[in-house]
Amino acid sequence: MAAKTRPTTRTKTSARRTRSSTGAKSARAKSTRGSSTRRRASQARNDAIALLKADHREVEGLFQQFEKARTSDRKRDLATKVCDALRVHAQIEEEIFYPAFYEATGDDEIHHEAIVEHDGAKKLIAEIESSGPDDEYYDARVTVLSEMIKHHVKEEEQRDGMFAKARSSGMDLVTLGERLAERKAEIESSPELLKSIGRAKDAGKGLIARLTSSTEH
Ligand SMILES: [Fe+2]
Ligand SMILES: [Fe+2]
Repeated sequence: MAAKTRPTTRTKTSARRTRSSTGAKSARAKSTRGSSTRRRASQARNDAIALLKADHREVEGLFQQFEKARTSDRKRDLATKVCDALRVHAQIEEEIFYPAFYEATGDDEIHHEAIVEHDGAKKLIAEIESSGPDDEYYDARVTVLSEMIKHHVKEEEQRDGMFAKARSSGMDLVTLGERLAERKAEIESSPELLKSIGRAKDAGKGLIARLTSSTEH
């Protein structure tokens, strides 16, 4: 009886050990999977796409505030903030993100449309900046700019849009995010730099000519 009991006990103990060792292994595997998922999630929170999306949300908020603004001072203040934010955003996309996207994917349709949309927005930004709330077309210009940006942001963020393609292309989005953040801070801290970027004179000719010549050579 005793001889029978011992093996049963050993079997139970060993089963417990096996279960507990399997459990520990699976817990370790889960924790490794969990930590790599967390690492990927935290990288995604800080990568280039997260930074650009945060810019989009900021500008959407400013447009919403503009819609509710009633005084000329408030409208001018908000429109200036919108224009500055958009010029910085367009600049870092055109200097850093778009070329990296183009190089990684070769998707000229998405890339070129984005550039042309930036150019259209820049022309309207220039008109807003050179007029004021007393101009009868001021509000209309800001509203049309808001609609243009809404369309552009949708093209960048939609399921098969630029950001989704960038993410599936294997681009180093974390390093790109660092470069975008650095350049953004540099422009924002320099009033001269901020003034000189993204003006209408750059629209069309500048970027598109540079693009055309770089694809011709
Ligand atoms: Fe964008
Ligand atoms: Fe853009």
